[in-house]
Amino acid sequence: MFLYNATVYQIPRGTRDFTSEEMQKRKYVENSMKTTFQTFGYREIQTPMFETLELFTAKSGEGIIEEIYNFTDKGGRELALRPELTAPVMRMYVEKLQMEPKPLKLFYLGSCFRYDRPQKGRYREFTQAGCEIIGADTPEAYAELIAMAYTVLENVGLKNIQLNVGNLNVLSAMFNVLKLPKDKQKYMIPLIDKSQFEDVLEALQDFGINPKIASSFLETLETSDINKILEYIKNDKSAKEELIKLEKILELLKKSFGIKNVQLKMSIVRGLDYYKGVVFEIEAPELGAEKQLCGGGAYELIELFGGRDSPTAGFAIGFDRTILALETEKYAFPTLDLDVFVILFNEEMMNKAIEITQELRKQNIKTDLDLLNRGIGKSMKYANSINAKKVIIIGPDELEKDSVTIKDMESGEQKVIKIKNILKEF
Ligand code: HAM
Repeated sequence: MFLYNATVYQIPRGTRDFTSEEMQKRKYVENSMKTTFQTFGYREIQTPMFETLELFTAKSGEGIIEEIYNFTDKGGRELALRPELTAPVMRMYVEKLQMEPKPLKLFYLGSCFRYDRPQKGRYREFTQAGCEIIGADTPEAYAELIAMAYTVLENVGLKNIQLNVGNLNVLSAMFNVLKLPKDKQKYMIPLIDKSQFEDVLEALQDFGINPKIASSFLETLETSDINKILEYIKNDKSAKEELIKLEKILELLKKSFGIKNVQLKMSIVRGLDYYKGVVFEIEAPELGAEKQLCGGGAYELIELFGGRDSPTAGFAIGFDRTILALETEKYAFPTLDLDVFVILFNEEMMNKAIEITQELRKQNIKTDLDLLNRGIGKSMKYANSINAKKVIIIGPDELEKDSVTIKDMESGEQKVIKIKNILKEF
C-alpha cells in the first residue's frame, strides 16, 4: 500500500538489488575466487570507483564515452565511473608500484559501470573479479595466468566451461596476407568476434578480395591446426615466433596445468583497444548470448600512462555471469543459515536467553533469539521460516534444573541438556 501522492522510486535501469539469499551466493563465490587468486600468489588491491575520464579515453579515444558513465564534478573535473579495472590498476602501478619486485601479481574484485543495453547477463552495474601480472612474459607466465582463470571458475563449482586461446599479432599477420587496409580490418573485427563467418566472407568479397584468397583466410581463421596457420603466415617471421610461443603455452596448459577443455581459436579479437599478442576467453556455452565469462590477454598501457615499459597481462571474470552459470548448472550453493534460534517460554526467561545467545555468539555460532517474546508456537514457526538449524527452548521447569531443550530442526530430534553442555552440541 502506498500513500496517496507519494512517489514510488524505481531502481535505475541495468542495476540490481541483492536479497540476503542472493548475497549468500555472492559471498560464497567471492570468497572462493579470492582464495584461488591467493593460492596462485596474487595479492588483493583496490582502486576508486571513479577515475579521470581521460584514463579511459587515452587508449580507446573519445568513442568510448558512448559506452561509459561520465560526469563533470562540482570542481569542473571530467570523471567517469570505471567501466573496467585494467586502466585503473595500470594508473596505480605507474603512480605507486613501479619499484616493487617483479613479477608483480595483483588481483581485485569490484563494481564496474557500462552504458550497455541491459539484458540477462548484461548490466549497467556489474562486478568483475580480475587480475594483472606485470613483468613476466614467458610462455610459463601466460600459461599460469590462463590456467588460473580456468581454475578460479572450476573452483567455484562450474563444470561446463570452454577455454579458447588466440593471438592478436598472428591475426594481424593474417590480415596482412590479404593486404587489407586498417579501416576495412576494423569493419571485419565485430563480425569475426561474433563468429559470423558467412558475413566475413561476404565482406571480403565486397572489398574486392579474390574468393579463393578469401576462403583460405576464413579456413585459417576457423582452424585449430597450428601448422595450417604457420603455413598461412609463413613470410612473417615475428608472427611465426608468436605462434610457436602460443603452441608452447597450449602444451603447458594441457600437460603441466592439466586443462583438457582448451583450444586454439584465431578468431578471438577482444573488444578493448589495449590488447596485443596472447588473448583468451572462457565461455559457459549454456548461457547463450552473454556466455562469455572471462576475457583477457597481454596488453600495453604502462608507457602511455608515463611509466617504464614492462610486459603486462591479465583477465577479468564476469562475477554476475559466473553466478548465472552456476544457477544454470543447478549448483547447490552452500547456505549461511542461522545455526540456532533461542526461544523463551515467557519474559522471565529473557535474561537467561540473552546470556546463552551471547555465549554462543562468542564462539562464532550464528545465533539469534526471540526479541519479541512471542511464545513458543510463533517462535518455532519463525525459526522454521528462516531455516534455523537448531532451536534452544528455555522453559521454567528445565531452567530450575539448569537445563534447556534443544531441537534439531532437520531430524526433529529433541532432548533436554545441561546449560553448561550446550557448546558440545555445535
Ligand atoms: P571484458 O571482456 O570487457 O574485459 O570484461 C570481462 C568480463 O566482464 C566479460 O567476459 C563479462 O563476463 C563481464 N562483463 C562485461 N560487461 C558486462 C556487463 N555489462 N554486464 C555483466 N558482465 C559484464 C575487461 O574488462 C578487461 N579489463 C579484462 C582484462 C584484465 N584484460 C587484461 N586484464
